[in-house]
Amino acid sequence: MHFSLKKINQYCEQHTSPPSEVLYELERATHLKTLAPQMASGHVQGQLFTFLSQMIQPKAILEVGTFTGYAAICFAKGLPENGILHTIEANEEFEYIIRDFVKRAELEDKIKLHLGDAKAIIPTLEIQFDLIFLDAAKREYAQYYDLLFDKLKTGGFLLVDNVLWDGKVVEEKKNTDTRVLDEFNKKVQADERVENVLLPIRDGIMMIRKK
Ligand SMILES: C[S@@+](CC[C@H](N)C(=O)[O-])C[C@H]1O[C@@H](n2cnc3c(N)ncnc32)[C@H](O)[C@@H]1O
Repeated sequence: MHFSLKKINQYCEQHTSPPSEVLYELERATHLKTLAPQMASGHVQGQLFTFLSQMIQPKAILEVGTFTGYAAICFAKGLPENGILHTIEANEEFEYIIRDFVKRAELEDKIKLHLGDAKAIIPTLEIQFDLIFLDAAKREYAQYYDLLFDKLKTGGFLLVDNVLWDGKVVEEKKNTDTRVLDEFNKKVQADERVENVLLPIRDGIMMIRKK
């Protein structure tokens, strides 16, 4: 290909509706107050999430891995009147940022934060979700996939982030993280219970639809 991915990403940023003031401030706060701000979904992916939520009109969304709440706010912005987003975060250090920005976004009645290990919390949620966003520890994706499958409605969507792992999945020599993600992508591809499409957006999003 004859283009720079960095330039294309910049062009996409410049030609995507700008983030709200709250999301802009959240991105700034995430950079100032956390050690790995690149974990937040960010502007273009966030806008995609709002659109997906607006298109799917989910009654219930689950996010696994909240971090500072960027994706949670984006998804929740697109929820219908009676919709709710549950989000799970293991690191309590992020709680004050999440709650602060969820309040500023006026989404307190739409976002329910669960603090703790998602592997323990998911089985306690007696809800069938229309949309699930998996974005926690990459090495545990296969385990989460199995855990989340029964929580997803038939016809529901599971989105899994970072599946291209900075493009490393196509390299011949793979380190452990890359191999685990490659194996996860192959597990989904081989699963006859689903249809899937791998979107090369940002770090790669695997979109899965339960048949
Ligand atoms: C990539 S960040 C999430 C970013 C967020 N979804 C967004 O798009 O803005 C991953 C988060 O998953 C959390 N996490 C990792 N393992 C977890 C677990 N077992 N249970 C709950 N959260 C976990 C981490 O603490 C981290 O904040």
